[in-house]
Amino acid sequence: MKRWFWLAALAALAALAVGAWLVLKPRPALAPGHPLTIFLTCDVHGRLVPCGCFSGQLGGLTRIATLFGPATSDQIRVDAGDAIAGSADYERIQYRYIQQAFGKLGYDALNIGHREAHLNAAQLRDLKAHSPVTMLSANLLDKATGAPIFDTHKVIDRDGWRVALVGVLDGRSLGEGLGDGLAVEDMEVTLRRLLPQLKGRADFIVLLAFADEAALTNLARQFYELDVILGGKVRQPSQQLIKENRSLILATTNEARAVGYLQATWRAPHLLAPLKGEVQLVDERIPQDPDIAALAIAYREEIRQTKLAIDDPATLREDMVPGVQPHNNYAGTQSCVQCHPSAAKAWLQSGHARAFATLVSFQADADPNCISCHTVGFGTTTGYRREAGVSSPLINVGCESCHGPGGEHVKMRAAGGNGDAHFRPVGAGDCQKCHHGEFSRPFDYATFWPDIAHGKEPAAPLDTTRPPPGLIDGPAPAPVPKTSIVPKK
Ligand code: HEC
Ligand code: HEC
Ligand code: HEC
Ligand code: HEC
Repeated sequence: MKRWFWLAALAALAALAVGAWLVLKPRPALAPGHPLTIFLTCDVHGRLVPCGCFSGQLGGLTRIATLFGPATSDQIRVDAGDAIAGSADYERIQYRYIQQAFGKLGYDALNIGHREAHLNAAQLRDLKAHSPVTMLSANLLDKATGAPIFDTHKVIDRDGWRVALVGVLDGRSLGEGLGDGLAVEDMEVTLRRLLPQLKGRADFIVLLAFADEAALTNLARQFYELDVILGGKVRQPSQQLIKENRSLILATTNEARAVGYLQATWRAPHLLAPLKGEVQLVDERIPQDPDIAALAIAYREEIRQTKLAIDDPATLREDMVPGVQPHNNYAGTQSCVQCHPSAAKAWLQSGHARAFATLVSFQADADPNCISCHTVGFGTTTGYRREAGVSSPLINVGCESCHGPGGEHVKMRAAGGNGDAHFRPVGAGDCQKCHHGEFSRPFDYATFWPDIAHGKEPAAPLDTTRPPPGLIDGPAPAPVPKTSIVPKK
């Protein structure tokens, strides 16, 4: 027999042996000192990338990717829920890219939060079908059949230890918001049934619970089987790792601006010795990962090509009574400049007049998440429309972004009659519709206003015969509360 045949046969045998060893390799000894690190996100809220609205911006999966680095076999990576931004069609499309990002980041499971549970059963099944990462929820059920929509749990192997990941959400505060065709079972009822089934099948149990601080502690008190509980629907990220009954508890939130780390040593089944547990801020010095940034660009390109509900005037929010026309329409900044030259000059010199160009340079000019604050009246029947693009008279933060629709005012002023349609008074509350939270440097009217200051034309004649101004736009909106993390300057 030829020698090469035997060589090949030997090589094949060797390969088989290596394969068999890989499959059958003995579990590592239950030696102490072997650490496990759990990476936790919650409330990513659609933040694939930080929006870039001001330089001190925190957060974004692009930065979280850099912070986490490549996934290794002594890690577990999970999201505890509320990764989606909302229920709108573009938010569901964006969520698919977020799922892909989680996939690239090596996530082991994504739990369902309240925002996901606002979708209907069919939409959730669709997201499940496309997800590269297992989606978990043991107590979100199909209302008709009572069967869980997602996997109830998943057992993964880490260094020879079997770790069960279980997902639940607290349905109590969901109320009316629960999506069509869904039901939520009480978390305790679900766990009382499920946990005994995991006995003997897992060395450790990690619960992902979209629930508030009190509910997380309650779960720890009721279920001694839970080694780790990760959440949640909390007001702020955990200040420290909590030990309650036999569980380690850690929670994070804040729109992808804070992530949780839990490090512990395996000792024996159901015996984890905590090394550290902390929440880290995803600050602006962390470079953005180009792979995840590319997903954000891909999302924005897809959204540009897709017709959305918000593009159809018949479905828009303003004056939702069918058949009723809006009482006033947007005229566009250009139609104001002729009669208000000094205001127009101040405006042209301000950043407001460049707000749309900014989005174009970020390829974000068709993204509904962005254009609402960088155009005039987007999302209302006569406001900016996506298909119009740069040629629209309603691009940029125009006069009417602050003063409200001026169609009637223009018509009446141009006709020169005695009647007039007045604008409501404008002030700091109007600025804060856009200048709030992560979208702005901390807003202070007294320092911001001088940069865009303008008013009546100096030569404007004072007409005392006019009746006192009536309001055409209703009362000014209440100021938007600041978010709990004040970003650094
Ligand atoms: C809630 C309103 C709002 C939304 C939504 C919004 N922006 Fe902004 N954006 C602002 C405000 C306000 C500023 C000015 C911030 C300041 O001057 O401190 C700004 C500024 C910016 C800037 C900096 C411009 C410059 O020249 O410094 C960029 C870039 C930007 N936004 C991009 C985006 C992108 C991309 C999105 C969508 C992901 C987005 N914005 C969504 C309100 C918003
Ligand atoms: C045909 C001329 C004309 C046009 C076009 C026009 N205005 Fe006026 N506007 C006036 C005059 C005249 C006044 C009353 C004098 C004054 O208050 O300066 C006025 C008053 C105002 C006021 C003061 C408050 C009020 O309710 O009277 C605001 C705000 C205003 N205009 C905004 C706008 C905006 C925004 C546009 C574009 C959508 C616009 N104007 C277009 C002529 C015009
Ligand atoms: C419709 C959303 C919106 C409203 C309302 C709004 N802004 Fe802005 N503002 C923006 C955006 C977007 C930018 C960033 C523009 C850019 O550079 O792309 C900005 C930038 C600014 C800037 C920095 C740019 C510059 O010109 O120096 C100042 C100052 C400012 N706004 C003041 C105000 C004040 C004061 C108010 C209220 C009277 C206000 N804004 C209301 C969206 C808004
Ligand atoms: C970023 C928000 C914003 C934009 C954009 C803006 N304004 Fe104003 N405007 C204000 C505020 C706020 C006041 C009231 C300031 C005050 O009285 O302290 C004001 C005042 C005025 C007044 C005087 C109103 C009165 O009753 O005294 C006129 C007229 C006016 N704006 C016209 C315009 C025109 C025309 C444009 C577009 C070229 C424009 N504004 C763009 C916020 C804005």
